[in-house]
Amino acid sequence: MADKVLKKDKDKVESNPEEEILLTSLRAKSWNEFFGQENVKESLQIAIKAAKKRGESIEHVLLYGPPGLGKTTLSHLIAREMDANIRITSGPAIERAGDLASILTNLEKGDVLFIDEIHRLNKVVEEALYPAMEDFCLDIVIGKGPSARTLRLDLPQFTIIGATTRVGLLSAPLRDRFGVVHHLEFYKPEEIETLISNAAKKLNVLIDADSVKEIALRSRGTPRIGLKLLKRARDFAQVKGKGEISKELTHNALKMLKIDSLGLDTSDIRYIKSIIEKHSGGPVGIGTIASTIAEDVGTVEDVIEPYLLQIGFIKRTPKGRVATKAAYDHLNLKHPEENKNQQKLI
Ligand SMILES: Nc1ncnc2c1ncn2[C@@H]1O[C@H](COP(=O)(O)OP(=O)(O)OP(=O)(O)O)[C@@H](O)[C@H]1O
Ligand SMILES: [Mg+2]
Repeated sequence: MADKVLKKDKDKVESNPEEEILLTSLRAKSWNEFFGQENVKESLQIAIKAAKKRGESIEHVLLYGPPGLGKTTLSHLIAREMDANIRITSGPAIERAGDLASILTNLEKGDVLFIDEIHRLNKVVEEALYPAMEDFCLDIVIGKGPSARTLRLDLPQFTIIGATTRVGLLSAPLRDRFGVVHHLEFYKPEEIETLISNAAKKLNVLIDADSVKEIALRSRGTPRIGLKLLKRARDFAQVKGKGEISKELTHNALKMLKIDSLGLDTSDIRYIKSIIEKHSGGPVGIGTIASTIAEDVGTVEDVIEPYLLQIGFIKRTPKGRVATKAAYDHLNLKHPEENKNQQKLI
């Protein structure tokens, strides 16, 4: 499928393979290391306990929300808590119904199948998945033409955990087959502070409380960004200081990374400016904005917009995106309404 590859991992601070390995090594290994998302955590823990008591697998779980909020981490935690093996795949990796059949027939009772980017499953595979999710069976077509026969295979009981940043792209029949559905939300700065302090301990880095606060405030409520900023600050402290992360060093590191007081980076600013300066504040369609700033629509929708919506810098209207007064204020620009009012006064 010539599906576009989203530049999800571009998310705000570019990543390199080494960094990804480090991030993986920081991945929460138990519930106590997974901070925040209390409601989600609690209801998952209850579902898991209940399933264990009944000696069954947990129902299929769908986790959705912007990149870097912990969907993959939570999936591993669920499998661990269920004492289950986890098999990992992703929507675009399962190209044909045959690929799905070979994955499913290799599962053992109680296994967890993690399907990342589940919104990118193609229609044929998705339809083959329905009976597997609902009745733990798989219909396989053998042969072609008039002599083709359908064979029904029984599958062991297993759990699918689907993760997606774009729940809106999931078809209703697929969404409805998940018994447990959770939306991960942006984290509060205090929660990011806790996870940064914890990661600093794991990395053996000294960091003062002010720096933890500063990094947390600029992490866009996203653990992955918080952890990456911590590592950038650590590099900075090792090269420009004595290894300990101080407020001044943090400040300079963030300045060098061009991350502003709200955690917005150059692509966010370009996005807002394109609405304000090139399209008079909107409404303007997402496709137009994306081409103005040379990003693909998926990246804009997945990576850039969720946080700007959350902090109230943009609004989605039926006619397109509109920049709010808060966005104008942040960029020290005059909102059109203010100009109008001033003209009235004159
Ligand atoms: N609640 C949390 N507590 C501690 N660390 C977290 C938490 N959530 C995420 N992380 C850390 O943030 C990083 C990103 O998390 P993860 O890969 O699970 O996000 P994701 O939602 O799967 O992102 P994507 O949509 O890009 O796949 C990981 O290093 C993970 O350990
Ligand atoms: Mg993930």
